[in-house]
Amino acid sequence: MTLKGIVLAGGTATRLYPLTKVTNKHLLPVGRLPMIYWPIARLMEGGITEIAVVTSRDHMGEIVNLLGSGRDLGADFTYRVQDQAGGIAQALGLAENFVGSDGCVVILGDNVYTSPFADGIRDFAACPQGARIILKRVPDPGRYGVAELSSDGKSVVGIEEKPAQPKTDYAVTGVYMYEPGVFNVIKTLKPSGRGELEITDVNNHYIRQNMMKWSEFAGEWTDAGTFDSLLHASQLVHELAVPEIVKSVLERRA
Ligand code: G1P
Repeated sequence: MTLKGIVLAGGTATRLYPLTKVTNKHLLPVGRLPMIYWPIARLMEGGITEIAVVTSRDHMGEIVNLLGSGRDLGADFTYRVQDQAGGIAQALGLAENFVGSDGCVVILGDNVYTSPFADGIRDFAACPQGARIILKRVPDPGRYGVAELSSDGKSVVGIEEKPAQPKTDYAVTGVYMYEPGVFNVIKTLKPSGRGELEITDVNNHYIRQNMMKWSEFAGEWTDAGTFDSLLHASQLVHELAVPEIVKSVLERRA
């Protein structure tokens, strides 16, 4: 089955102010690339070329200026406006018509992975039922969604969003794969304490249905939404080659 890609690049990024006063967080530099090219590359390595980028009204112009149609990359970009920051699940909901009857891979625009996870995407494409997440053991799980595993370690039995006392050190990284039915799940969600439709609630739905698969990411991973993590992301990719699949963006055009 074809999978569509969705890059979530909304939000106001107040934690990075004033870097984000006049531009979007996802356009800040991470290594040799504007941040957003890292998640785009990871989707494309998995064979995904039809990609919707969801961002806020304020910075849509700059995002489109940078990415364009996607033709130079062999991709096909579609854009959706998120009028107000209402959470990851709400942003995903805006891509319902774009995804149609396909499965989708959602990736957060500020998540940087140092190596591809194309196999995970291809596995899901072969059988796009339920959902699939990618976990990574981290020293500071309380900053993330934290996955609890069954005693045999085979399945995820629950995810807690930013728990004060994390049950494990398995963070839920910012890539999520869903069957087409995910949009009906989103419609049942209620806003969380922080006033957002939480992707963790979507994932817990699939866990309750016994329809959640997971794998552990072998490379390095970070988000880049704070000064410390932005620096960390830059350090992680400093010695890395720009992913082959987006290398054409390095060419200077007249
Ligand atoms: C979001 C998710 C969280 C996930 C994290 C990965 O957190 O809610 O479950 O672990 O992304 O970057 P947020 O960036 O909204 O704080």
